[in-house]
Amino acid sequence: MILVLLGAPGAGKGTQAEALSAATGAAHVATGDLFRAEISAGSPLGVAAKQFIDAGQLVPDEVTINMIQARLAKPDAADRVILDGFPRNPAQATALDAAYATSGRSIRAVLLKVDREILIERLTARRVCPSCGRSYHLLNRPPQASGICDVCATPLITRSDDAAETVAARLANQLSALESVVDLYRATGRLAEVDGVGPIEEVQARLAVAAAAAGLTA
Ligand code: AP5
Ligand code: MG
Ligand code: ZN
Repeated sequence: MILVLLGAPGAGKGTQAEALSAATGAAHVATGDLFRAEISAGSPLGVAAKQFIDAGQLVPDEVTINMIQARLAKPDAADRVILDGFPRNPAQATALDAAYATSGRSIRAVLLKVDREILIERLTARRVCPSCGRSYHLLNRPPQASGICDVCATPLITRSDDAAETVAARLANQLSALESVVDLYRATGRLAEVDGVGPIEEVQARLAVAAAAAGLTA
């Protein structure tokens, strides 16, 4: 099955997908992480995507859909997948449904609900590991040693799109498309909603219940 984790920028998709993947063994596939890897590698796809990401806009569908389809064709994605950051508009959701229409695999969505003020606070205090991708928060989830990744000891950085003006652009440009995707899954009876506010472990427990109800168990 494919569990689509929906949420605004900063809702906690990456944090929760990582934990849910560890708990269930499902593959965690994140379009933002795939784009950042392409940018680090200096590939043509990365160069093309970076201008949209730094402007807080969605990368064009053709590029994004081709990239995610190539990733989902890999062996570790053959069974259970947690999708983080895709689909992000109705065209992407329709492409995902079409790709699996005859596969017998179910596609279900869970929305992490977080208010706008909290999103802004989370994004501006986030630090990330450029090597393994783990997210930290200066107050809510600090690393054990200041500025160093707990997992791989790499120095942490601030994501370029977490600058205050880019955070504002991301929220302004992307929330209505998210709403359309939420509506699409709700209208087809495939949406669960989870309160994304509160300690990370509490959100994790709520999400585990919703994911299990959707068919993703350990
Ligand atoms: P992407 O990397 O997916 O960014 P995003 O959707 O904006 O989401 P974030 O990664 O910023 O937040 P998150 O929900 O993962 O939160 P996190 O767990 O880190 O995409 C980046 C860009 O790529 C897009 O803007 C777009 O340009 C492009 N792109 C990606 N996918 C695309 C697509 N499908 N189509 C087109 N373009 C695409 O948590 C945030 C912070 O809060 C962290 O500091 C964390 O420690 C903290 N935190 C988490 N949970 C809690 C909690 N419960 N309490 C307190 N703090 C918490
Ligand atoms: Mg993320
Ligand atoms: Zn790391």
